[in-house]
Amino acid sequence: MRALQFTSYGNPEVLTWADAPDPHAGAGQVRIAVRAASVNPIDWKLLTGAMSGGQPQLGPGYLGYDAAGVVDEVGEGVTGVAVGDEIFGLGQHTHAEYAVLDSWAGKPPSVDWAVAAAAGVAGETGERGLRLLDVTAGDTVFIDGGAGGVGGVAVQMALSRGARVIASASETNQDYLREIGAIPVRYGEGVADRVRAAAGGQVEAVFDVAGKTPIDELTSLVSEPSQVLSIANFTAGQAGGRVTGGGADSRPMQALAEVADMLAQNELVIKVQTFPFDRAAEAYRISQNGHVRGKLVLIPER
Ligand SMILES: NC(=O)c1ccc[n+]([C@@H]2O[C@H](COP(=O)([O-])OP(=O)(O)OC[C@H]3O[C@@H](n4cnc5c(N)ncnc54)[C@H](OP(=O)(O)O)[C@@H]3O)[C@@H](O)[C@H]2O)c1
Repeated sequence: MRALQFTSYGNPEVLTWADAPDPHAGAGQVRIAVRAASVNPIDWKLLTGAMSGGQPQLGPGYLGYDAAGVVDEVGEGVTGVAVGDEIFGLGQHTHAEYAVLDSWAGKPPSVDWAVAAAAGVAGETGERGLRLLDVTAGDTVFIDGGAGGVGGVAVQMALSRGARVIASASETNQDYLREIGAIPVRYGEGVADRVRAAAGGQVEAVFDVAGKTPIDELTSLVSEPSQVLSIANFTAGQAGGRVTGGGADSRPMQALAEVADMLAQNELVIKVQTFPFDRAAEAYRISQNGHVRGKLVLIPER
């Protein structure tokens, strides 16, 4: 099969779409023939070596954490899914023609492959954040960075829980935030004042998905600092906020089932921009630039 790969850290031009060993489903996993896989910021963070701790890359490196496709191998102990099923979910090295998933849900027939692929990491992260913040009907939640992959899904998940959602974006994405149901505010200096004005006071929870606003500005919006949860500012704890990176906080199968349901009901709409795998570097560059609207998705040519 072919997979997106690199042999030394660098910017997206070091990526190649080339032959790689076939992966196989281990216990508790399934393998899919990939129809689409999304780009997440962690992909270019790995590619550039930002997460390597200064160590050189040894051998080929592979990327990608979510995908949608057709099951073609079912690992030991897996029930409820069969060869030929159309699914989407989370795994590793999904930027390839075949990929192994660790958690998944059925792709609703009405949903495009690209949209399903886009819903994996963003959906799991959105569900995790709103659950840890205990966002429920009647709450007002501020999502800082609402126009990107995680933010766009989190906005719509919070609305489906009955919350009122205020979200931040650049000037360019204010209308997009309105389209997905949020009350838009511009990010940057003074954002907390704009949120207070939009909310008519404090909010019940802040989900920081961009990691750009100083945490003490975000904690000023809530009565209890731990009601600020960040996925991208690992210093949030110093100001009494919380950070989640997945791991034990994660309930991926439950999250993906919720996402599948929302997609099927048209309660979740994800704006996608697609690229063939051999033009992945373009998508990675856009992601690295930090102003993605919705999701970037890679499609293998068959
Ligand atoms: N800890 C975890 O479990 C976890 C999981 C998934 C992702 N993440 C991390 O979370 C971050 C977001 O991921 P993503 O997939 O949503 O990224 P993304 O799709 O690239 O979205 C980035 C968004 O950030 C917004 N943004 C840029 N500058 C901002 C600012 N100063 N204030 C507020 N928003 C700003 C952009 O809005 P404009 O386009 O309007 O500028 C854009 O929509 C990344 O750092 C990623 O690595 C962490």
